[in-house]
Amino acid sequence: MSVRGNEPAGPTRVLISSEALHVRVTELGGAIARDYANDDPLLVGILKGALVFMADLIRAIPIAFTTDTIGVSSYGDGIQSSGRVELTCDLAASVEGRHVLIIDDIVDTGRTIAYVKRKVEMRGPRSVRLCVLLGKRERREVAVDVDYLGFSIPDVYAVGYGLDYAGRYRNLPHIAMLEKI
Ligand code: IMP
Ligand code: MG
Repeated sequence: MSVRGNEPAGPTRVLISSEALHVRVTELGGAIARDYANDDPLLVGILKGALVFMADLIRAIPIAFTTDTIGVSSYGDGIQSSGRVELTCDLAASVEGRHVLIIDDIVDTGRTIAYVKRKVEMRGPRSVRLCVLLGKRERREVAVDVDYLGFSIPDVYAVGYGLDYAGRYRNLPHIAMLEKI
């Protein structure tokens, strides 16, 4: 597969198939359902990368919960993080007294999810945990404990299943590695 226009790269190698994603997301949903069975948690997805993962994950959690989203940006259009995280769209729900589970697509340096966790913690939740589909372990700059991790991946740029490069490829049903063409 190649891309048209001035795009420098295209996703070619499948890192995680849609079947493997389905199996793992179902397992994560089962674990979350067991752990939060009587907690009526608030599941907070980080826009926009977590959207596809979250859409599948919530259908694998057969307990009572509510959802919300929070928008942050750190990457701009490149593959290098700006290192600065900005709030682009705040939560609509109150987190006070709630068991909050923050959901994101990928942890790279850890800055984004650490920022969101801090924002939530300042508002009086009963608990805050993290659920992330992909983790690039050797890239961490900020210490974060991920309570529910889908897959550990090497230091490659991943796209698909919600993850983008400059806004593209979120619609791939699998996770692919972005390669130079
Ligand atoms: P962090 O703040 O460095 O942990 O970066 C986390 C955010 O950067 C994620 O929520 C993604 O939106 C984005 N990101 C980091 N690595 C990748 C990648 O390999 N592919 C796509 N997006 C990524
Ligand atoms: Mg993201």
